Amino acid sequence: MKPWIFLFCLALPLLVSFVNSHSHNPHPYTLLYDTLTLEKPYLPANNPLTIEGIQLGRLLFYDPILSGNNQQSCGSCHQQQYAFTDGQRLAIGAKGDTLSRNSIALMNLAWDKEYFWDGREKSLEKAVRIPITYPTEMGQDTIELIKELQQHAHYPHLFEQAFGTSAISMDKTAKALAQFLRTIVTNGVHLPDSLLAQPPEGQTEQEFVMQQLHKPTLRGLYFRLADRCSGCHQDRLYAGTFMGNNKTTPKGTKMKIPPLINTAYTAPYMHDGRFATIRDVMKHYQKHIDEFATVNDFQSLSPKYRESLDPQSGKSVIQLSNYDVENVEKLLHILSDTTIITNKAYSNPFNQPNFDWTKFYNIP
Ligand code: HEC
Ligand code: HEC
Repeated sequence: MKPWIFLFCLALPLLVSFVNSHSHNPHPYTLLYDTLTLEKPYLPANNPLTIEGIQLGRLLFYDPILSGNNQQSCGSCHQQQYAFTDGQRLAIGAKGDTLSRNSIALMNLAWDKEYFWDGREKSLEKAVRIPITYPTEMGQDTIELIKELQQHAHYPHLFEQAFGTSAISMDKTAKALAQFLRTIVTNGVHLPDSLLAQPPEGQTEQEFVMQQLHKPTLRGLYFRLADRCSGCHQDRLYAGTFMGNNKTTPKGTKMKIPPLINTAYTAPYMHDGRFATIRDVMKHYQKHIDEFATVNDFQSLSPKYRESLDPQSGKSVIQLSNYDVENVEKLLHILSDTTIITNKAYSNPFNQPNFDWTKFYNIP
């Protein structure tokens, strides 16, 4: 390489960053989260969180301009009051078409690696574009959308604030939406002391758990749930870290394993909304629970537990009784994070009594 070309290559990024620093300087945003329940998030380097980007994403999320007939926003199907689901069995598109899937709760997406019930999309930036153009969903033409946004009185300025150029594109629209969604984070779940008590003096954790496991108490139930459910709902928010099959889909297929927090808000349940209540969900698991080959700590650690395996089938004989099923509702209610539905930062800005576009100019 000729020395001057080399020098130019070195100088180019410097030049670009110099120009950028003058025309566009969005404020970086640090994602705050409860480190007791969440590990480190995955944040793509090519779409860093900025205050301007997040606010733009929030406006776009709640703006029906994104749909073909300007009737439906992302927030129509992902409503904050239902932890970003819609309370319906199956989602209904902008033109009234019934979709084949239940609106999935949007939370902690910065910790996910797979999107949609069947996990078919691996990038959030790509996933957010799908509902916009899907014919029976928002049914939008992307060229039309970019034209509408570009002719809007405020969006060109807001895109410039967030991305340094008022030239709007699908790429930047998706980036802003993804930024906003990554900020929707659960703030931990606070368990009552009765579930957190430590084993008494002289008793090991395992002995304590085994003793509780057989008791018809909320504590016993908590351990039974942990035991029978956490083979799949296994991270600290009881979400899957992989895809699974719980007999709601044909053999060989797998679905995203949702967290068991905030189920108080996300009914109906499963990818097709087949169960209206947690009671219905539990009836399903009651029937199928022994078919799941869940590996669990207690099984490998406690000889006492092994004794309670059915010698013929080798499967656990600890079943969920009707009493348990009734109490699961109580337990899952406790596993709720109310901040997800009350946090104003996630709310619909257009519904604020004094909504004004210019408030989103020069935000920080
Ligand atoms: C008509 C209702 C509807 C609208 C409008 C809608 N969604 Fe959804 N959304 C759904 C349904 C249903 C699913 C599950 C789809 C599937 O699994 O195939 C979903 C899934 C998602 C997911 C995947 C979440 C996960 O945990 O895997 C994201 C992200 C998402 N939507 C974002 C958006 C955004 C952004 C918009 C607006 C551009 C939007 N949605 C508009 C119904 C809707
Ligand atoms: C073999 C893995 C597996 C086991 C074991 C399991 N689940 Fe699930 N669970 C899943 C999958 C996969 C889904 C999503 C299925 C679908 O969308 O149709 C799911 C969905 C759910 C949902 C619906 C959540 C929503 O937002 O729609 C609830 C509630 C639930 N499980 C509770 C439990 C409970 C309670 C237990 C223990 C009794 C349990 N699960 C055991 C894999 C499992």
